[in-house]
Amino acid sequence: MQAPILAANWKMQLDIAESAALAKKIANELPRGNGTVILCPTVAAMPAVSLAVSGREDILLGAQDCHNQTKGTFTGATSPAVVAELGCTYVIVGHSERRQLFGETDEVVAAKVAAAVAQGLIPILCVGETADERKKGESETVVTRQLTTALASVPPEAPCIVAYEPLWAISHGAPHPATKAEVTPILKQITTLLEKRSATPVLYGGSVLPDNVQEFVTPDAFAGALIGGASLTVESFLGIVATARRTYAI
Ligand code: 13P
Repeated sequence: MQAPILAANWKMQLDIAESAALAKKIANELPRGNGTVILCPTVAAMPAVSLAVSGREDILLGAQDCHNQTKGTFTGATSPAVVAELGCTYVIVGHSERRQLFGETDEVVAAKVAAAVAQGLIPILCVGETADERKKGESETVVTRQLTTALASVPPEAPCIVAYEPLWAISHGAPHPATKAEVTPILKQITTLLEKRSATPVLYGGSVLPDNVQEFVTPDAFAGALIGGASLTVESFLGIVATARRTYAI
């Protein structure tokens, strides 16, 4: 049985010193055991976080975004080559905040996924529908479009992770979790769409907390979680890791 993948997306919530301090606490307190823990700090904090977790091969790094070109006149952008150079194994691509606040289209996301894969990074491809799309009954259509466009040019054997993050369940301050029953149909849909690819873990994201992670992350549901707000303290993040690992071991 595969162990759960728990990824912390710290968004733009912590500065470099805070990121390093949190990473250090996680490195000191995370029990050695099964499963993958991924930390995704702001990119400038990567060297400090990398140093803070050195010696813990079970804690891996991810960037929160990258550009779709490796070099060029793209002021302010981060090359996937630099992401790799910083020691990242993963890169989050197509997060809903990038799509909504930075205008990333499905085509831009697809180009970023392709660039990440070409660089040898494992993309954590985020998909998910808005509250409005859900109300109109468009959840399946939206997620199918996002997923098929993003993976169209990615060889089926290329390692990739998909994160289903319904926008209506993302906390933005106050958690308002979905229920397992609400998200299971979309998980089934995603699993079907991924059938022809080699094992692609599907994570869940959206107000994941220590006391609801067992609803989503189980051997017969999601393979792990992408956690925002609750990954910002060592207590809640390691609480989530412990519960998910326990659920998987049963
Ligand atoms: P929350 O866990 O704060 O809802 O954030 C989810 C998310 O956007 C992770 O990428």
